[in-house]
Amino acid sequence: MSNPSQNRRVRTAVLISGRGSNMSALLAAAAGEDFPANIVLVATNRPDARGITTAQEAGIATEIVDHKPFGRDREAFEQTLDARLRAHGIELICLAGFMRILTPWFVERWLGKLINIHPSLLPSFPGTDTHARALEAGVRLHGCTVHFVEPEVDAGPIIAQAAVPVLSGDTPDILSQRILVQEHLLYPRALALVAGGAVRMEGRRVITKAHTDTTPANLAMAVPSF
Ligand code: GRF
Repeated sequence: MSNPSQNRRVRTAVLISGRGSNMSALLAAAAGEDFPANIVLVATNRPDARGITTAQEAGIATEIVDHKPFGRDREAFEQTLDARLRAHGIELICLAGFMRILTPWFVERWLGKLINIHPSLLPSFPGTDTHARALEAGVRLHGCTVHFVEPEVDAGPIIAQAAVPVLSGDTPDILSQRILVQEHLLYPRALALVAGGAVRMEGRRVITKAHTDTTPANLAMAVPSF
């Protein structure tokens, strides 16, 4: 029998606010027992988030912490969320379309254990409407980024990125669909790197195990060919 301490899978939560297609990609990857993260919880701040139904149908525990009753008290909302996460023994959090800005209180508590996917090649285009803004700016490459979360919005050490060419007929919708395909490939790979200990956050940098090991332990950048 294998040694459980060597093969222990990291108890992971996915936080969503809507459709949950990245959550589905993460759940599919984590369904394999060799995957280093075990997704044991999907939580949302939106009771009507479509992805919650998907998670329930997949037999994953869910938590709904509606932010509305908390009004402007972001920290009170986060304290409730944090308590639920800890009740499930969560060790790592993936934000996947979680549309609630987190305060430094929450981010500091989970520093190095909180990752996010953003639909642009950060540090370009933080914030919303990234695809329209990329087209407006006339960039030739756009893409997505998985990064450790820092208190500043859409900032933090970058774990992995996928670049996608911008084509002449692109609209924000068409471009977002091409990037979403890459998001679904990139996020599980990035989660595997973090949960498997191949990368970690140290200060403002991502340290890869390859820097200290002789084995090339990871592939931290994905650039699809075109
Ligand atoms: C994705 O584009 C993700 O990068 C961004 O929000 C969107 C969420 O989509 N943070 P989904 O809910 O995962 O389908």
